[in-house]
Amino acid sequence: MENRAKPRAYVETYGCQMNIADGELMEGILGGAGYDIASSPEDADVILVNTCAIREHAERRVLGRVGQLNHFKRLRPRVVLGVTGCMAQRMKDTLLEKAPYVDLIVGPDEYRGLAAAVDEIRAANDPGKPRHRLSMVELRIGEDYQGLEQQRRSAVTAWVPIQRGCDHRCTYCIVPYVRGPEKNRDAAEVLEEVKRIAADGITEVTLLGQTVNSYSHGGWNFARLLQSVSQVRGIQRTRFTSPHPNDVTPELVEVMAEEDGVCEHIHLPLQSGSDRVLRRMLRRHTVEDYLAKVEMLRDAVQGIAISTDIIVAFPDETDEDFEETLELVREVRFDEAYTYRYSPRAGTPATRLPASQFIPDRVAQERLEALIAETRAIQAEINELDVGRVEELLVEKMGRDEGMIMGRTRRNKVVVAPGDESDIGRYINVRLTRSTGATFVAARFPKAKPSRFSWLPMHELGGV
Ligand code: 5AD
Ligand code: SF4
Repeated sequence: MENRAKPRAYVETYGCQMNIADGELMEGILGGAGYDIASSPEDADVILVNTCAIREHAERRVLGRVGQLNHFKRLRPRVVLGVTGCMAQRMKDTLLEKAPYVDLIVGPDEYRGLAAAVDEIRAANDPGKPRHRLSMVELRIGEDYQGLEQQRRSAVTAWVPIQRGCDHRCTYCIVPYVRGPEKNRDAAEVLEEVKRIAADGITEVTLLGQTVNSYSHGGWNFARLLQSVSQVRGIQRTRFTSPHPNDVTPELVEVMAEEDGVCEHIHLPLQSGSDRVLRRMLRRHTVEDYLAKVEMLRDAVQGIAISTDIIVAFPDETDEDFEETLELVREVRFDEAYTYRYSPRAGTPATRLPASQFIPDRVAQERLEALIAETRAIQAEINELDVGRVEELLVEKMGRDEGMIMGRTRRNKVVVAPGDESDIGRYINVRLTRSTGATFVAARFPKAKPSRFSWLPMHELGGV
C-alpha cells in the first residue's frame, strides 16, 4: 500500500506549443483534483502521454514510448496509463486495441473530465477484476476551456492559448480532424489570465492558436488583442504562433511595429514555394501573396526575424516545383526553417490522391536534404552578420555546459552565455561572440542600453 498522502500524476508531452500548454492544463486539472505532479514516471500513480498526430514518424515514436512506460505498470499494476491529445483523438479505440496496456484515452476537447476519469479507473482498479478502461474522444464545439487553469512549468515564459481548432482545410493536415473547428476565447478572459501571469512575475507570453491571427471574438480581432496583451503591466515581451499569411493585416503589422512589447519575430508557415503545390495544398495564398506579407513586415518592423515551416514531396510535387521552393527560400532568406517530408495522414484529403502521385522515399529524402542544406547555409550567413552585436536576453534556463545559461533575444535567437541560476527569469545584456550556425555564444555586456533596438550594430550603440 502507498503511504503517501496524495497520489502522483506524471504528464509527458510531445508536439507543438499548443500541446505543451495542454500538458500544463492537464497538470492544472489533476493538481486541482488532489494529485501531486511528478517530474518523472518512476513513482507516479498516473502516467499520461500527451501526443501529437501531425506526422507518422512522431506517432510511431510516441507509441514506442507508451510501450516503454508500460514497464512501470508491470512493476506496479495499479498504475493508470493514459494517452491524451491529438494521436488519442485520431486513433480513438484502435489505440486501445493496439496498446492493450493503455487504460485511458482522452482527446483535446475532453480534458475537463480528465480527473474524474482517472479517479474512476483508479477506484475500479483491482488486480483481481477485469480492467476498467475509458475512451473519451468527443470533439465538443461547446467546450470553451473556461475555468480550466494551466499549471505552468516555466517561471519565465508562459503559453497562452487564445484559440483552439482550425477552420482551414489544408489538404495534408490532420489538425482540423483532431482538434475540430476554430474556437476563440473571450478576450477579457485572456487579458485576466495575462494579468495573473504578470502578477506571478512572468514577463514573457506567447499567444497560441492554430491560425492565431484569424482570432475573432465579440468585436475583438487579433491585432487588438495582441496590442492589449502587450500593454499588460509587467509583460515585457509578447510573441504569438502560428499565424496564417492571409491574416497578416496592415493593422497587425502596425501593432507589431508600434508596440514596444511585441517581439521582432514572426513564424510564418510557407509550406511550398510553388503556386501549383500551394493550390493543391489548399493553402489559399500564392507565392506572390506570401512575398507581399514578408515585404510589409520587413518594411514596418525593422530587423524582424522570420521563421517558417516547409513541406517537401507533397504528392505530385515535380522537380520544378521543388526548385521553386529553393528559389523562394533564397529570395526570402529565413532566419530559421523547419523542414518536413510530406507524411500521409489517414482521413486527410491528400491521402485520396492517386497512388502514382506519391513521391518515392528516395526523391523525398533528397529534396529534404537539399532544402535543409540551403536553409542552414542561409541561416548561418544571417547569423554570422549578427556576431558582434549587443543583445538583450531573457534567460530561460541553465545551458548544457557548466556555468552557462541559455536565453533568447527578442528576435527569438537562442544564445548561451556565462551565468548562473540567479540569472533565470532576468533580462541580461550580452555581446554575441560567435555563431554556431543556428545559435550563438555570447559574453556578458554590462552596459545598460535601450532594449527595443538591441539588435543594432555596436557602433550605433556607442558600445565597445
Ligand atoms: N506531413 C508533413 N508535415 C506536415 N505538417 C503538417 N502536416 C504535415 C504532414 N502531413 C507540418 C506543416 C506545419 C507544421 C506544424 O507541420 O509544415 O506547419
Ligand atoms: Fe500540435 Fe497539430 Fe501535433 Fe496536435 S497534431 S500536437 S495540434 S502539431
